[in-house]
Amino acid sequence: MQEKIIILDFGSQTTQLIGRRVRELNVYCEIVPYNKFPEEDSGVRGVILSGSPFSVYDEKAFKIDLSLLRGKYPVLGICYGAQFMAFSGGGRVEPAGSREYGRAHLTHIDQADPLFQGISQGTQVWMSHGDTITEVPATFKPIASTDKVRIAAYQVEGERLWGVQFHPEVYHTEEGTELLKNFVVDICGCKQDWNAASFIETTVASLKERLGNDKVVLGLSGGVDSSVCAMLLNRAIGKNLTCIFVDHGMLRKNEFHEVMHHYESMGLNVIGVDASARFFADLAGVVEPEKKRKIIGKNFIDVFDEEAGKIKDVKWLAQGTIYPDCIESLSITGTTIKSHHNVGGLPEKMKLKLCEPLRLLFKDEVRRVGRELGMPEHLITRHPFPGPGLAVRILGDITPQKVAVLQEADDIFIQGLRGWKVTEPDGTETALYHKVWQAGVILLPVQSVGVMGDERTYERAVALRAVTSTDAMTADWAHLPYEFLAKVSNDIINKVKGVNRVCYDISSKPPSTIEWE
Ligand code: XMP
Repeated sequence: MQEKIIILDFGSQTTQLIGRRVRELNVYCEIVPYNKFPEEDSGVRGVILSGSPFSVYDEKAFKIDLSLLRGKYPVLGICYGAQFMAFSGGGRVEPAGSREYGRAHLTHIDQADPLFQGISQGTQVWMSHGDTITEVPATFKPIASTDKVRIAAYQVEGERLWGVQFHPEVYHTEEGTELLKNFVVDICGCKQDWNAASFIETTVASLKERLGNDKVVLGLSGGVDSSVCAMLLNRAIGKNLTCIFVDHGMLRKNEFHEVMHHYESMGLNVIGVDASARFFADLAGVVEPEKKRKIIGKNFIDVFDEEAGKIKDVKWLAQGTIYPDCIESLSITGTTIKSHHNVGGLPEKMKLKLCEPLRLLFKDEVRRVGRELGMPEHLITRHPFPGPGLAVRILGDITPQKVAVLQEADDIFIQGLRGWKVTEPDGTETALYHKVWQAGVILLPVQSVGVMGDERTYERAVALRAVTSTDAMTADWAHLPYEFLAKVSNDIINKVKGVNRVCYDISSKPPSTIEWE
């Protein structure tokens, strides 16, 4: 049985971060809605209660029966989690005079307490709460304060129960990782043996058992998630996995052939389908972004369904869904930020069972698993690329000619990023490509006047887009060097017929988005 920490999600923005921090300690954890504690799971070693957008007094506040946990597992309550436990035990929680937000320093730390082993007096923590605990029940012992908050942390005598009002998972809490380590390793006794290799071993074994001799199909996109998913399944069931890679005609320059080559060299059983003609036919004259997406999604499903139909006795559809996708769809407060359903509807239409072996991994973990499986670095470190491809980067209607122009411009930008080296503080060199989360070129529906030699030109403008981000939920425009931008602009205008102007997009997300459509 896999040992694990359960994180009960009371709806905080930082619940996922708690999960990441625990996983970074090589301890496996799962985030589950606050009311879905898996009582039957004998692998549970400890429980963390997250923060929440609610106050304990809110009518809608999420509440649980703590007797499910108390006395059975070590428990750490964070922010609302701490307030809820104190309040439920008869303590007092009151609105703080002013919302306690930002950096603070811990004083009066009880360093003999196992949660604070090795944590320095005065250490910086991050506070973000509107209520504060003003009185704790008799057995709750304060074990740290700040200048504004007397009970910044507590421990319950005779029990393995702790609460902290600050956020150890947030980067600004300087010794947050140590504190979480004290909890999950020293208090809960987790062994820190969860890593890419152990994930592969247990997942391959369970896939073998679950799938037996069944046949599975999987749609490849060229991206990291679907590729790693295919590699894992390939290791588990070999030729019983058939991968389908659909070329909708709006991939990057040469991408279809290059990626097919990679897939074949990785030993995957893959069928490449050039379906570009039917995508272009259906997209002709369509301008509205959502309509374009729908047409692409529908055609993709049809092509995939037709191809999969040629394989006998398929029982399963595999998908490279990853953890943030699942957590968003589980979102308990209903504040889902955005979801992209490129292949939504496929499992229902095909009447297949779903297999999602990466559904509990974060993106960086997927990359580590890919490396461990021997996937080429080029595939692992590729920037994310939207399912509808260049279609959402051509503003206005789509034609094969416009795609060809954009492919050329995009290729110059991307190759430029790969070739431009920046020197790191330790003297090593990194390609600029790896310094940005995602980059691409947008073809604008704008023509402007230019001059080339003695000729007046009246041609298109393109925008370069490059952003830094950690999860695509928020993003900042990348501060690329002027010399680099000058070179790319020159190269595009000189080499790409039909483009005479290059702009750089300096908008962040929010309020803009990464893609223009
Ligand atoms: P936005 O434009 O919403 O994009 O800031 C966030 C991330 O999602 C990608 N993206 C998509 N991916 N299908 C996808 O598979 C889509 O329809 C789609 N739209 C945006 C985008 O490239 C970025 O990484």
